[in-house]
Amino acid sequence: MEDHEIYWNDKSKIWARAGWYADMAKKWGKNDLWEDAHWIGDMIVKYKPTSLLDVGCGSGRLFQLWNGLGIKDVEGIEYSKLIFDSVKQNEFNVKVHNMSIIDQSVPRKFDMVFNTQVLLHIPPQHIEKTFANMIKMSNKYLAMIVWYEVKRINKDKASSYKKYGNSFSHDYPALFKQFNLKVIEESNITFFNKRKNVAWLIEICQ
Ligand SMILES: C[S@@+](CC[C@H](N)C(=O)[O-])C[C@H]1O[C@@H](n2cnc3c(N)ncnc32)[C@H](O)[C@@H]1O
Repeated sequence: MEDHEIYWNDKSKIWARAGWYADMAKKWGKNDLWEDAHWIGDMIVKYKPTSLLDVGCGSGRLFQLWNGLGIKDVEGIEYSKLIFDSVKQNEFNVKVHNMSIIDQSVPRKFDMVFNTQVLLHIPPQHIEKTFANMIKMSNKYLAMIVWYEVKRINKDKASSYKKYGNSFSHDYPALFKQFNLKVIEESNITFFNKRKNVAWLIEICQ
């Protein structure tokens, strides 16, 4: 088993137990939504995707957002079996696939392929495959909210998972260039963990 798999099998026990899905649903409408939800909400209102893929959707924290913004055609990808089991039945009719974005994709395209708080957990040796899979499933946009600090970019492509605290700040500008992706929106996002996150809306250039 790879480090990545061991880590998420283990971590998912905490995530599933924390009951985020039910908790976030209860809190909806109050002023305690994470900042990423506000940003992606604004992007959806502005760019109007009619279908969306939530990559690493976790316990469905944002399902109510997709629903509230009127996107009827939403699917999710979740790697952890435990979290997948807790979210596969949901009141928002989001079809969730239990798979890894590193080496699998859904055989269709979406107007927007989205992820938040996921790519930092992809080890560097897998980030290019991850981008290729996301691009394969997008008609037009990629939206991502990621931990990104230039001085923390990890140059070592085969680095050990644990050594970097299970988090990686990838060289996103280089990846955008490599995959011919055009940044159309960029914003800084601060979460409670105070790490510097960047939100990017990206257009796929054919
Ligand atoms: C920090 S959580 C964020 C969950 C959700 N996006 C949110 O913001 O509430 C990271 C999620 O990504 C999932 N994940 C990690 N590696 C993945 C992979 N290779 N493919 C799909 N999902 C993955 C984890 O199981 C976990 O649910």
